[in-house]
Amino acid sequence: MARIVIRNGTVVTATDRIRADVYCEDGLVRAVAPDLEVPAGTAVLDATDQLVLPGGVDAHVHMELPFAGGVNADDFFTGTAAGLAGGTTTIVDFVHPERGQSLREAFRARREEAAKACADHAFHMAITWWSEAVRRELAEVVREDGVRSFKAYLAYRRTIGIDDEALLGVLDAARALDALVLAHCEHGAAVEWLQQRLLAEGKTGPEWHPVSRPSWLEGEATGRAIALARAAGAPLYVVHVTCREALDAIDRARREGQLVWAETCPHYLLLDDSVYRKPDFEAAAWVLSPPIRPRYHQEALWAALAAGLVHTVATDHCPFRQADQKTLGRGDFTRIPNGAAGIEHRLTLLYTYGVRTGRLTVEQLVDVCCTRPARLFGLYPRKGTIAVGSDADLVVWDPEQAGVVSATTHHHATDRSIFEGFALHGGPSHVLAAGRVVLARGELRAERGAGRYLGRAAG
Ligand code: URP
Ligand code: ZN
Repeated sequence: MARIVIRNGTVVTATDRIRADVYCEDGLVRAVAPDLEVPAGTAVLDATDQLVLPGGVDAHVHMELPFAGGVNADDFFTGTAAGLAGGTTTIVDFVHPERGQSLREAFRARREEAAKACADHAFHMAITWWSEAVRRELAEVVREDGVRSFKAYLAYRRTIGIDDEALLGVLDAARALDALVLAHCEHGAAVEWLQQRLLAEGKTGPEWHPVSRPSWLEGEATGRAIALARAAGAPLYVVHVTCREALDAIDRARREGQLVWAETCPHYLLLDDSVYRKPDFEAAAWVLSPPIRPRYHQEALWAALAAGLVHTVATDHCPFRQADQKTLGRGDFTRIPNGAAGIEHRLTLLYTYGVRTGRLTVEQLVDVCCTRPARLFGLYPRKGTIAVGSDADLVVWDPEQAGVVSATTHHHATDRSIFEGFALHGGPSHVLAAGRVVLARGELRAERGAGRYLGRAAG
């Protein structure tokens, strides 16, 4: 029987901060109380002057994502290992069926790819095409495969995006199946039109990427997705919200009583569009969608996060190597693979620039990074909190740990960090996944294949 007790820490959940020990046995939290008596032989981890947080839940990541040039830089092992190094013990990734492919077949293939993960994982099902057969299969995906969230892309029309009519079908199916629809909101046709116009004018470098995807096209698509969700009577989760226009649409809908949830990412909170002015194709590292916005959107996002209008912070982790992957778009910015690494530094960036600056409480950090994503995606209370019966996914957090983000030291399998040089203040001294110590004072003990698939029960 594997036993460990974390002593003398301050246990933080989304609602409470208490001095308590946490006793874990066989991968589960068994007791949370001060001065616990534990069986002889129990391993002891001293957390004096440290916080004890629930393991992070990153509900938006892309490991081993196929793209025109192969597959992105982190596979399920390296990507989840980087997550563990930063205190994220659960991910929700995506199944992206080919158009015409059976959803369940794509799900089975994705599960095989994810078998090497060292952290627990679940999947959202991306709906890349729509038919009555897809609708029927979705019922099986929910019932048999434990997938309870569907992703719709309003961008990327030619590959994985769907039109409004299909989105209505997806929303309607989700409502009937008690599943949640995630929407990537950018006006796909307008983005493509702007891209072609820029290329025709000889504007081919990465600095044109943000020009082709302005915030008002995100605002338009967010408002449209919300309207379609309202028509279908379904709740909606808007992924990677970046801008004031989208926040306005979400705020309006919520004030009118609609269930709309919003996610943002550390890069939208912390970076501004000056990154696209970097010379020598370096700006390609920041080519991700939606793009990094002008600075005035940042304050609106922080305020929305603090006020509870933005509900989760995920990473959209999707790394590509600068050396041989981003370069596929030299001479045509539309061919630069979209995405960047982020999973390792989500908690520490939010702690450094959110909690330490007084923008967020540590309870709010736990809420947006752990509890709320677990609740929204059917993983709570197994994940996302510290309670008797929860998985022993725990982060012993040293508020004084100092560091600097660098691609030379991070665990992401890529040669760039979009946060290069960012100072960090606070980080995990130890991480437990299912009761096993997977990080101990900088030593990562990631075990290939130790992660479990998390089927999510019917709501
Ligand atoms: O640029 C991004 N976000 N890449 C990942 C795929 C997506 O759009 O979520
Ligand atoms: Zn994404």
